[in-house]
Amino acid sequence: MKNLNVFLKSLSVLVFLFALSSYVSAQDQKNPAAWTIPAKYKAMKNAASGDAASINVGKMLYAKHCKSCHGGTGLGDGAKASSMKTKIGSFKDAKFQAQTDGEIYYQVVIGRDEMPAFDKKVAEEDDRWGLVNFVRTLK
Ligand code: HEC
Repeated sequence: MKNLNVFLKSLSVLVFLFALSSYVSAQDQKNPAAWTIPAKYKAMKNAASGDAASINVGKMLYAKHCKSCHGGTGLGDGAKASSMKTKIGSFKDAKFQAQTDGEIYYQVVIGRDEMPAFDKKVAEEDDRWGLVNFVRTLK
């Protein structure tokens, strides 16, 4: 009985320390700075805007490449999100959705810092726009 008590006490201390350390590391994340996006990208035309087939392609690619950081519904709460130095914003944010399709294309394809560039992993133009179109549905 005594041993069990000691065990339970040490266990609760461990759980507490673990919770504390993840809380502290989440607090350490810096807020993302505004993106500087070249005019050429801002004005890019999305030929498949709102197209259901394109959104579907994007949905599949999102599950494969993006969900781990951005989360299933785009809140920025994927499994890897808390290990990032920069806080991941939400795709539901009105300010995010107010950007042009070309701006989102740039963020996805070119990236910066901890947001990986997907120009090689997603090499087809149609697939890239599929991701943009899917991210639009997460609003
Ligand atoms: C390794 C984690 C990681 C993966 C995987 C990842 N992202 Fe990101 N993403 C980030 C981080 C961190 C930021 C914030 C970076 C910054 O602002 O400097 C970000 C930012 C973005 C932004 C700009 C968001 C904003 O609020 O301004 C978009 C759009 C985006 N990601 C889309 C995607 C898409 C689409 C994929 C998959 C093809 C993807 N990301 C995969 C970590 C990731």
